[in-house]
Amino acid sequence: MSTLWVGTSWKMTKTLAEGRAWAAGLRESLGGGGTSDGTVPAGVQPFVIPSFTAVTTVAEILGEDSPVLLGVQNAHWEDAGAWTGEVSVPQAKDAGARIVEIGHSERREHFGETVETTRLKVAAALRHGLTPLLCIGESDEVKETGGSGEFVLDQARGALEGLSAEELSRVLIAYEPIWAIGEKGRPATVDELIEPFAALGAEYTGRVTGLLYGGSVNLDNAADLLGIEHATGLFVGRTAWQLGGYLELLRIAEAHAAG
Ligand code: PGA
Repeated sequence: MSTLWVGTSWKMTKTLAEGRAWAAGLRESLGGGGTSDGTVPAGVQPFVIPSFTAVTTVAEILGEDSPVLLGVQNAHWEDAGAWTGEVSVPQAKDAGARIVEIGHSERREHFGETVETTRLKVAAALRHGLTPLLCIGESDEVKETGGSGEFVLDQARGALEGLSAEELSRVLIAYEPIWAIGEKGRPATVDELIEPFAALGAEYTGRVTGLLYGGSVNLDNAADLLGIEHATGLFVGRTAWQLGGYLELLRIAEAHAAG
């Protein structure tokens, strides 16, 4: 079975002190940062995507030998220049990031992210050897019409257009239906996810690094979600913001990987 990717984005949460405590606890649990004790969950690739302010701090705490990959929640497509308020992929890499989250629905809704900008950002991440984590997902309205699979395929195809097979193999996709995300979302049932995962899996399984699920993942539904055909991981918000929740999700994934 392929490696299960289990990660969290902190979105716009956590002070530095809170971020430090979370990262130090994770290091203690999984090892790294010069400590050799700790247990890395077998068959699982953990990753964490803090706010920009905490990226270097978390990088330092986890240490270069950490089994946990670090990411940023966004990055610009240009390498440098007059783009006030933006952070580039080379800057993110310099700060310790290995993953660039791209096109989360909150960025599409509130910050004008489009298929075109996601395509530019995916290319920028790949150009610098970072892993793009492309987020796609449909609204409730689209779901009601029964077109979820086609809709998310269009988002993915648009962002990944023109990539070589080698480049595509370095991409992570997170399918995150908007209706399932965050406080206003409701947890999806496995049945609701079969069609979109079948559509995405038919096109991308074996061609990308992983096909993750995100949106109201919790300790009760995580095992079932990992059991969906073509799903190879979880991308989690709220449940993982408390370290205990994240560690538990890693254990659930490890058990799933062990079959
Ligand atoms: P949630 O967020 O787990 O809090 O629903 C998921 C996401 O936005 O990736």
